[in-house]
Amino acid sequence: MALSAEDRALVRALWKKLGSNVGVYTTEALERTFLAFPATKTYFSHLDLSPGSSQVRAHGQKVADALSLAVERLDDLPHALSALSHLHACQLRVDPASFQLLGHCLLVTLARHYPGDFSPALQASLDKFLSHVISALVSEYR
Ligand code: HEM
Repeated sequence: MALSAEDRALVRALWKKLGSNVGVYTTEALERTFLAFPATKTYFSHLDLSPGSSQVRAHGQKVADALSLAVERLDDLPHALSALSHLHACQLRVDPASFQLLGHCLLVTLARHYPGDFSPALQASLDKFLSHVISALVSEYR
């Protein structure tokens, strides 16, 4: 489903509110993903995944930067994320289903930290945004 003007406005407003903390939340989302869906850890066997790991934090910041780029380029997501899609599909060979798991954990994380903002409308818009990001990320899988 296409992102409406309202979806875009809600996502952009939330991102503005997150400011420089996006990496904090993507790191928490990664930690939740590893705990709730342990099979996802297999892709990161070369990293220290213990709680509070600086390597997970550094990786969380990379994911945050990619998502912030996506928020900036809502009209051009497949193009903006094509190199990242190629990396995950062809080099990392990440199971495309696992993107949903991280997306789910990011929604839970943001709902926990921003309960007052997390209206059903914001949830729906964020969910759509993440679906678009995931579609772009799986576009190079063939
Ligand atoms: C690397 C973004 C989901 C596994 C990366 C990088 C970014 C990124 C920006 C760094 C690329 C680079 O260094 O050039 C994202 C985004 C995701 C996502 C935006 C979804 C919203 C996932 C999922 C998995 C995964 C679900 C596996 C469960 C990996 C691995 C690396 C990586 C293994 C390489 C880590 C390393 O060796 O440093 N991802 N990713 N990604 N991603 Fe993802």
